Amino acid sequence: MRDIIKSLDEAVKFIDSKTSLRPEIGITLGSGLASFADLVDVDAVIPFAEIPHFSPSKVQGHPGKLVIGMLNGKPLAVFQGRIHYYEGHSMQQVVFPTRVLRRRGVKTQIITNAAGGIDPNMNPGHLMIIKDHINLTGDNPLRGINIDELGPRFPDMTDPFMPAHIETLDAIMNELKIAHSIGVYCGVQGPTYETAAEVRYLQTIGGQAVGMSTVPEVIAARHMGMDVVGISCITNLATGISNEKISHNDVTVVAKRVEKDFVQVLTQFIAKIG
Ligand code: HPA
Repeated sequence: MRDIIKSLDEAVKFIDSKTSLRPEIGITLGSGLASFADLVDVDAVIPFAEIPHFSPSKVQGHPGKLVIGMLNGKPLAVFQGRIHYYEGHSMQQVVFPTRVLRRRGVKTQIITNAAGGIDPNMNPGHLMIIKDHINLTGDNPLRGINIDELGPRFPDMTDPFMPAHIETLDAIMNELKIAHSIGVYCGVQGPTYETAAEVRYLQTIGGQAVGMSTVPEVIAARHMGMDVVGISCITNLATGISNEKISHNDVTVVAKRVEKDFVQVLTQFIAKIG
């Protein structure tokens, strides 16, 4: 376990060698949502492949870079893209970048993703503020010997997503008149999209959106005591809710379409917190 701490510290040291900014707000940008990083007055752009112990992402729409810089006077650390469990990485590899940000001082992690809508009232382009998640990945990044230096053996998960931040986001989206809701994100392993029967199951257990990311990062972030904020961009209706077939290309096209709204929400949110 010392190995993980050593690896984290090596990654932190490497990032320190590129920038002296130590942001308290971190953002993970999901499929098709990467352009938010263009607003940042950049101090350092570091490809994942260069950071010690980071596993490079190979998914189209996920460039895989850490951008550190300023937005409206606030330092930010932005992951443009992420790595996914379905790519074959271990859960520990998937959450490594989140852990590195925490070790460098990030206190609030904003996690975004593209997701399928399970609630039939949603339309592609809808934004869902995540209020809770259901871990259906069949794994957990905290499995194995606990690293006490990072957090407790049995972390409480009463408020995986910070209630005050949910209210702030809701108010911002109301004011901007952006179609949105507050709901539960079901995190699955993928890479197959769900069958219609699986989606009926997800409806039964109380999900409003489904996707292949986010849950591992939220678990690792809460373990380390970070405040977490989650936003899903509903890029499609889940299988069986609509008769349209789902393609990754359509997912990224819809995410791109709502990117402007999304960027506005994020910018206002960041201005309001911390
Ligand atoms: N299911 C799972 N993951 C997704 C979907 C979906 O329908 N859309 C975007 N990511």
